[in-house]
Amino acid sequence: MSLEELAAQAAHCTACRLHEGRTHVVFGEGDPDAKLMIVGEGPGADEDAQGRPFVGRAGQLLDRILEAAGIPRSSVYITNIVKCRPPGNRNPLPDESKICSSLWLLKQIELIRPQIIVPLGSVATQFFLGEKLPITKVRGQWFEWNGIQVFPMFHPAYLLRNPSRAPGSPKALTWKDIQTVKQTLD
Ligand code: URA
Repeated sequence: MSLEELAAQAAHCTACRLHEGRTHVVFGEGDPDAKLMIVGEGPGADEDAQGRPFVGRAGQLLDRILEAAGIPRSSVYITNIVKCRPPGNRNPLPDESKICSSLWLLKQIELIRPQIIVPLGSVATQFFLGEKLPITKVRGQWFEWNGIQVFPMFHPAYLLRNPSRAPGSPKALTWKDIQTVKQTLD
């Protein structure tokens, strides 16, 4: 099974209620041999309209974060915990995350086998850490998940709401975190 074949299956998914409101399934995109996989929460309005992950304002900020560390977006695989947009951009519900990730995300990870997974924000981080911990406590730290290094970072949407670049600010910490990721990629 290739990523394309998996994406073709996901395009028809009706396994949870989120399929009812979607325009597109946002499966994920990027290098199938990526060493770095970035996992967000779920598609927003722009992603739902275009069928691509992280293409709205948060996505443009993610592009700048990657660029700052010299990581080409095309070298990364980018996806989300849930592949269909939750109504009104609410957080995915636990059953939605569970159903969707077991059908698609876990298989994507198995096919890509990245060296590093960066979950963005608390919903994605909770998936890999197995418990709800404040993102402020766990970002910028290394965890291990099924033999893969996991390094949580702030979600870019959170950075859009907290634009200060002062030392110690979420943005300043994120710019430091992405350098750590870059230095750890072999
Ligand atoms: N926010 C996410 O978590 N994922 C996207 O794809 C876009 C915005």
